[in-house]
Amino acid sequence: MNYLEKRILEDGIVKPGNVLKVDSFLNHQIDPMVMEEVVNEFLNYFGDRKITKVITIEASGIAPAIMLAAKLKVPMLFAKKTEPSTLKNENRYESEVHSYTKGVTSNVIISKEYLDETDSVLIIDDFLANGQAALGLADIVQQSGAEVAGIGICIEKSFQKGHELIKEAGLDLFSICRIKSLEDGEVQFMEE
Ligand code: G4P
Repeated sequence: MNYLEKRILEDGIVKPGNVLKVDSFLNHQIDPMVMEEVVNEFLNYFGDRKITKVITIEASGIAPAIMLAAKLKVPMLFAKKTEPSTLKNENRYESEVHSYTKGVTSNVIISKEYLDETDSVLIIDDFLANGQAALGLADIVQQSGAEVAGIGICIEKSFQKGHELIKEAGLDLFSICRIKSLEDGEVQFMEE
């Protein structure tokens, strides 16, 4: 069992609707020890890839993404969910991301200034549920002509569709924790 899995069992709270609350160490208060362990896991898996940029989506993806980017010594770029007033339409890539959890669709945006065909990009996020955020980011990377080096996720809810959709898209996915079930208020991980 890895460190993040242990923390989920100790400090995670299962909420109704198959939601795992990890506000005490990942989604609100952020424990740097957890971040260090998360970064080590990502480095073990992706460390030998050519990566020129780490990208994520605001807000909760930013912490693991910046910590990893610092180790890789590359920039971290985050997609914005709200219309930036300083970024004109022709200067941006955008992709529609539907959140099944929140029931809203948002346009996620990245400036053309920071992503192009010379980049090899690692996509990082805190949660993978239905995969819409990760696939939206992959779409933006592909629009820019850059390569998706892989997708790294802290907590995957393997009983939702995201894992399957990302694999079907032919993308290399690594999730530090894979949750098989949150039924009856209990966290169960996939067996290795
Ligand atoms: P998807 O991107 O994989 O399709 O996820 P989905 O639409 O189902 O989830 C929408 C938001 O809810 C995402 O955050 C996602 O990370 C988060 N989420 C999904 N399931 C859980 C869960 O069980 N626990 C927690 N804590 N979060 C979950 P977001 O809207 O982008 O929020 P944020 O990054 O601004 O925090």
